[in-house]
Amino acid sequence: MKNFKRTLITSALPYANGPVHIGHLAGVYVPADIYARYLRLKGEEVAFIGGSDEHGVPITLKAKKEGIAPQDVVDKYHGMIKDSFEKFGISFDVYSRTTSKIHHETASEIFKTLYDKGAFIEQTSEQFYDVEANQFLADRYITGTCPKCNYEKAYGDQCESCGSTLNATDLIDPKSVLSGNKPVMKETKHWFLPLDQYEPWLREWILEEHKEWKPNVYGQCKSWIDGGLNPRAVTRDLDWGVPVPIEGAEGKVLYVWFDAPIGYISNTKELCINEPAKFGKWEKWWKDPETKMVHFIGKDNIVFHCIIFPVILKAEGSFILPENVPANEFLNLEGDKISTSRNWAVWLHEYLIDFPGKEDVLKYTLTANAPETKDNDFTWKDFQTRNNSELVAILGNFVNRALVLTDKYYNGEVPECGELTEYDKNALNEITNLKLEVEKAIDTFHFREALKNAMELARLGNKYLADMEPWKVVKTDPERVKTIMNVALQITANLTIVFEPFLPFTMTKLRGLMNLDKFDWLELGRTDLIAADHKINTPELLFEIIEDEAIQAQVDKLLATKKANELEEVIANPVKENIEYEDFAKMDIRVGTIIAAEKVAKTKKLLKLTIDTGIDQRTVVSGIAEYFEPQKIIGQQVSLLMNLAPKTLKGIESQGMILMAENADGSLVFVTPSTKIKEGAEIR
Ligand code: 2FM
Ligand code: ZN
Repeated sequence: MKNFKRTLITSALPYANGPVHIGHLAGVYVPADIYARYLRLKGEEVAFIGGSDEHGVPITLKAKKEGIAPQDVVDKYHGMIKDSFEKFGISFDVYSRTTSKIHHETASEIFKTLYDKGAFIEQTSEQFYDVEANQFLADRYITGTCPKCNYEKAYGDQCESCGSTLNATDLIDPKSVLSGNKPVMKETKHWFLPLDQYEPWLREWILEEHKEWKPNVYGQCKSWIDGGLNPRAVTRDLDWGVPVPIEGAEGKVLYVWFDAPIGYISNTKELCINEPAKFGKWEKWWKDPETKMVHFIGKDNIVFHCIIFPVILKAEGSFILPENVPANEFLNLEGDKISTSRNWAVWLHEYLIDFPGKEDVLKYTLTANAPETKDNDFTWKDFQTRNNSELVAILGNFVNRALVLTDKYYNGEVPECGELTEYDKNALNEITNLKLEVEKAIDTFHFREALKNAMELARLGNKYLADMEPWKVVKTDPERVKTIMNVALQITANLTIVFEPFLPFTMTKLRGLMNLDKFDWLELGRTDLIAADHKINTPELLFEIIEDEAIQAQVDKLLATKKANELEEVIANPVKENIEYEDFAKMDIRVGTIIAAEKVAKTKKLLKLTIDTGIDQRTVVSGIAEYFEPQKIIGQQVSLLMNLAPKTLKGIESQGMILMAENADGSLVFVTPSTKIKEGAEIR
């Protein structure tokens, strides 16, 4: 284990193209905040860096959609995001943004340094270009059919249906988002970071020297490296971003993934300018090998933080590298993937209105159920149970009993501790054991485990009171009760320390009730935290029961979203223009029965069907292979458009078309008479 003097904690910069939701909190900001608070409580030197990622295509797309300028988009969401984080108590030392002047300068400088060192490869290639809009098309500006799963709305860089990473040129039938036209290919020059040249170094640095990284992170890095790294373009033809600071690059900007992580550096600079006495010079945080840098991110950011950004830092030459990158998996919501565009999320700004004063409850739930090793699901039911059965019933209950009994028996004055029994001593010793468990867990980024162990201390307190029964003993041995209550209050005072990183608002409240100042983490385990005669304040509940109605309201809200999404699908497929009956009557639709079916070689979608139409047996080629196995549809009755002009597909002449109905997820079902009917029956 290396010895570090200080810790630089970075948390992924969220895109300022929408508000933040529970997935953001659970994946990145809550764990990062726990870590920062814990280290600070230990008296360590920490800088916790946050900020908004304000460049990139998603922002320009959002601006287009809303008919405003990209700057307006980021101004709006940066403000909203910052506000949500503040209200949830995410304790950033700085929260800035990548449209700041200092960031543009910093990103420019680093690009220029790499350029001057010859770290880039210059390459002219052909890229998609929209002639009508007169601009090159970023990957997200191109949609088309995914070559892997045939989803028709795949983006140029990714298919959101099957999750494949794509190249825009892979798309079948590509279209420009701007004009809807088919884009043309046009030459353009870009600068590439030759990741392949760094492969031996990355192999050594990650695969040999960082075997302790989380398995999901290590595994992803290994598969990228083993899969062979390719040069990666770090510039784009776009008018929103940090301009490429060299001649001949007019109209081009740095790729958002080049500039965004540099935002960590820019924001550190800003912090050090604003608070020089506390944080010193920025170089101390970025160039001193005694600084431990930890990146908190979600799993979709792993390659950028473990491979691309480190290569940038390495190529520049004077920066430190991350010591760890504890990436989380994803949080789903009620069984479905969280989606900003489908409004399938619990938005933080809405939660703050619906559950005022319950910021810690959400943070608790998200940590207790954190997607640390696999994707996890947030459900409102689980949220309610965690609150009612854990925070209220265990932590709140113990604290309340300790405070209320002290108030009742001693008028709020902490009683003297008499002679401790073995049982008392064991209970008090357990605090130190749990402290070690919590430390081990946080030090290795196992925050769920850490929280579980913190909760054990509250359970221990409950058990202690239940076993000691001071409410009974008080009638027979009031002296003994003083010791019992003193022990219970020492446990309570220790709770204010162990829960401080997880439930900071609640622990502030608890310290207020106990009339205590904040302790250092190092004092956790002490059995004399609270002195005899110390006066506590009037007890109040730490948590309250969340009723079924409040939960139902949230579930209803999600159901309404589901309905709205379904409606939107309908709107996206509006009813076509009216036609005359004569137009309809031109179609000859009849019932037929599939009597043979086989896959068409070298295609994924096509089946060759033989259909008994009552008049003849004809061949129809149909794009239904993804949803039906050929042998299982023999005997199936179908509706067949008989007089569609024949068409040759993959060398087979298709004589007609069978009619299918489509589900919301794109899957298909046959349109079939409700009872069996003779072949050739007309459909009118
Ligand atoms: O995935 C995202 O939301 C990115 N905006 C994260 C950027 S992290 C860092 F590099 F800034
Ligand atoms: Zn796909």
